[in-house]
Amino acid sequence: MRLRELSRGWHRAGEVVGLVPTMGALHAGHMSLVDRARAENTKVVVSIFVNPLQFGPREDFQRYPRPVAADLELLRRASIDAVYMPRPEAMYPPEASTRVSVGGLTSRLEGLARPGHFEGVATVVAKLFWASEADRAYFGQKDAQQVAVVKRLAADLDSGVEIRVGPTVREADGLAVSSRNAYLDARERQAAASLSMALRKAADAYQAGERALAILHGTLLEELGREPLAQVDYAELVDPEDFEGPGTLAVLAVRIGRTRLIDNHDLAKPFPG
Ligand code: PAF
Repeated sequence: MRLRELSRGWHRAGEVVGLVPTMGALHAGHMSLVDRARAENTKVVVSIFVNPLQFGPREDFQRYPRPVAADLELLRRASIDAVYMPRPEAMYPPEASTRVSVGGLTSRLEGLARPGHFEGVATVVAKLFWASEADRAYFGQKDAQQVAVVKRLAADLDSGVEIRVGPTVREADGLAVSSRNAYLDARERQAAASLSMALRKAADAYQAGERALAILHGTLLEELGREPLAQVDYAELVDPEDFEGPGTLAVLAVRIGRTRLIDNHDLAKPFPG
């Protein structure tokens, strides 16, 4: 049965449908969103689709992890109601030429670093909203700019989908869990902790009373500078709504070897852990 028919049947029976969009390679971050969706809805759909449209030509689309059997087992144990795994040809038939483009905030930071990325995200998310007719959709705060883009899209297109955001899940040393952490070798994995360490140091300084954004910015750069493997793509303090500076949301994109990691934290809040 097609997802839309399934969802319409659920709605006719008075059910409330939550959608957790993913690209698979599920980890504790995804599963925390799944748990929350289960607690807040009577039916939960998880989509798994490695979306070619949101990868640049020189990015990791081909090598992106696709552990389908392990993902399905995790979801089976989480007792969700449906897994949606469209084939790429079904999602984007050759004649398809519509793209969803969110203006403004997509031209900064991740949008600048990864041209076309947010158009790919917005297009697939809009299609997932149409296909699922979900009442609510769940996204992780780790991709803070994606969250802002999706909120804008959901409102601007009158989608009727309520966006709920789950906190970033972190490893014991603070590293934000991400499917891309699987690319890191042992030394790189150690170096990857520099992102959360920088965010923690800056948040601690803010909590201690420091309000000068230039000094907080300096703290981020100084901390990242201590790690020889860390190559900073950007480290900025921006407004969390429009991603233009200045503001207390610290956003980082850092290359560790061949792997590009992102993380963020609102310095006005204590760093967790
Ligand atoms: O965050 C992701 O995994 C993806 O960008 C999303 C939202 C599933 C769209 O492909």
